[in-house]
Amino acid sequence: LAHKQPRLDSSLSPPLHVSSSLPYPSTSQSASRAIPFQRPLPLISFSYTNDRKLEFSDAAMRYYVSPPLDADLGHGYERWIRRPEERGRLDGLLRAISEVRRRGTGDPVINIVSWRGVMTKILTGPYEDRDGWELNVMAISGTLYFEEFISDARLQEKENLTPHHRMQTYYGYSFESWCTASRPDASSGWGGDVDTNVQWCSVVKTKLGDTRIVIGGEVDCVRDRYDGRNDTMLELKTSMTIRGDRDKARFEKKLLKFYFQSFLLGVPEILVGFRTPNGKLKTTESFKTLEIPRMVRGKENAWDPQICLSWGERFLTWIKSNVESGNAAAPGSVWRVKFTPRVGVELASLSEEERREVEAGEDRIGFLPKWYYTEIQN
Ligand code: A3P
Ligand code: MG
Ligand code: MG
Repeated sequence: LAHKQPRLDSSLSPPLHVSSSLPYPSTSQSASRAIPFQRPLPLISFSYTNDRKLEFSDAAMRYYVSPPLDADLGHGYERWIRRPEERGRLDGLLRAISEVRRRGTGDPVINIVSWRGVMTKILTGPYEDRDGWELNVMAISGTLYFEEFISDARLQEKENLTPHHRMQTYYGYSFESWCTASRPDASSGWGGDVDTNVQWCSVVKTKLGDTRIVIGGEVDCVRDRYDGRNDTMLELKTSMTIRGDRDKARFEKKLLKFYFQSFLLGVPEILVGFRTPNGKLKTTESFKTLEIPRMVRGKENAWDPQICLSWGERFLTWIKSNVESGNAAAPGSVWRVKFTPRVGVELASLSEEERREVEAGEDRIGFLPKWYYTEIQN
């Protein structure tokens, strides 16, 4: 792919000025140098209860049990308790970081704080040819905070999925229920009706190059036991059954996202349930996360994780230097990063009006909750 100049984007309503832009990375040659990624080390885990309360417990943790084949992934659809679509706020992750600090079990230096989904989007950018995204960014005392920016229109879109699309989404959650139970010795079968308010999350620390990162993300289940480490964690995924070479190539392309999603939290295993278009579970296959890159090497839709890591490092250092020099002129600014597939990334500081929109009339400084902001000043 040729390096095209990023365009100024008008949907950013409009930015004061585009401070800086970073051209799209080339995926045609191998990464010039390998950027080390430190094995993620869990700091803390927490649960969201069915009334969306965060507690520092493993109450929402689930154990893997093998699913019955031919399971109906549409089972229980009418009883799905659906968590409404929401902004990608960092509040839960910040509570966890605060708790780690209170316990004195973390590191003093953190360069980046982000949910896992955002980091996955950043790292897989070089191979993304369809979906753009935007982030809000703040920098406070040497730490960058990232949250996904979802416009009101986009939020509405996600809330109002077509019935077909909503069912497809449900298949993924239903697979989780067929594959998990609240006890490790439970027998195979339906694990209980789906309530997407309930989540079990793990927060890890890791390092990309010289950048120390704290990442939080949902973990689907564990095998047999959990002792605070990530080596028994399991990611569950569904995918359409593979019927020919084209399906296979499509699946191998999808593995890039599966890979980074799990890699970033140090989840060592991904269990894929292959299903028919109508949601009948046909087979399952387990993949060792760290072996996936070798599986796709040399294939039609091959991807190279080193390209992603080296792009990720460039992206993070670019944001850091621009935001920090911009903040010197205007302390406490909120920044927006816009990624456009095949074009590149742009960074702009938000206007007063846009900043108020981000604060949403809540008790916040930019997108950070005021209590957290106050806490880190001390
Ligand atoms: P599948 O991944 O099996 O399709 P996760 O796999 O990350 O644990 O997420 C569980 C399920 O949530 C997914 O199952 C999918 O149904 C739904 N989901 C997650 N991210 C989504 C997204 N960006 N858009 C639509 N559905 C999503
Ligand atoms: Mg999950
Ligand atoms: Mg999953």
